[in-house]
Amino acid sequence: MVRMRRLRKSAALRDLVREHSLQVDDLILPLFVSETAVSPIEIASMPGVVKYPLAGLGEAVARAVAVGIKAVLLFGIPARKDPRGSGAYDSEGIVPRAIRLIKSSFPELVVIADVCLCEYTSHGHCGLVDSDGCVLNDETLPLLVESSLAYVRAGADIVAPSDMMDGRVGAIRAGLDAAGFEDTPIMSYAAKFASAYYGPFREAAESAPRFGDRLTYQMDPANAREALREVAADIAEGADLVIAKPAMAYLDILSGIVRNFHVPVVAYNVSGEYAMVKAAAAKGWIDERRVVMETLLGMKRAGARAIITYHALEAAAWLK
Ligand code: PBG
Ligand code: ZN
Repeated sequence: MVRMRRLRKSAALRDLVREHSLQVDDLILPLFVSETAVSPIEIASMPGVVKYPLAGLGEAVARAVAVGIKAVLLFGIPARKDPRGSGAYDSEGIVPRAIRLIKSSFPELVVIADVCLCEYTSHGHCGLVDSDGCVLNDETLPLLVESSLAYVRAGADIVAPSDMMDGRVGAIRAGLDAAGFEDTPIMSYAAKFASAYYGPFREAAESAPRFGDRLTYQMDPANAREALREVAADIAEGADLVIAKPAMAYLDILSGIVRNFHVPVVAYNVSGEYAMVKAAAAKGWIDERRVVMETLLGMKRAGARAIITYHALEAAAWLK
């Protein structure tokens, strides 16, 4: 008889046949830095996550480094928003300043800068908007290139465009190359779905669109094959790593990408996924630690090479 239980008999046997594991090296910690905060500001829907003032960022990064985190993903919240999102590509904007500060103390830390306009635009869309409220694709690209250059010049190790405009990876690649940054990788949010799971993030970044939605640029949650076209396009344009986002309800997307392409694939365990786990844990309905570790391991099993997660600090401490 086939007895599957033979290999489950002891902890040592289970260790021997285990196929996947989670390590601290897999974790990317998102960090919010606010131009107006004077002390850390809590985000109601994301317990344990805060928006740091520039002055508090060094300490936050030190805590992450102390538990072994090797990569962070930066989001900026500017003091002022305008229709063209000018805070995104200002070389003295909040993110370039944050990058310089982090890099001066932690040169080894991989600093990834999210590239998008939605945190910086008064209308909350990820690109420029015309008088009819249409989000303009090609007109937005130079601003994404300028943003990327501002972050890379400040010392960012990787840029991560999350806007979902077509052709942005190619435009950013050309812009970086022309400025002498041909060795800086692009991690594109290649398969990014128009998801309700981003709700808490938009509260944090104050980036909810003022009108309409993101359905004309982010992907339709019903589409899986289209995600492969998105990834193929981004790789052809020069993406070095690709992100699949959200993660939990989209692990089929992630594993489809992993099976079809050979670039590292990153899972984004988004804000709403975090919020649900935290809420259930606060009620005492789930064992938070076990649920978090099982969730992150599930993403590894689906094929993620790395995971962007708000649980990174706690998970890293648990892995120690
Ligand atoms: C900005 C951006 C968003 C997220 C990452 N970058 C929000 C959005 O597209 O509305 C979502 C992250 C999360 O929910 O954790 N384009
Ligand atoms: Zn955006």
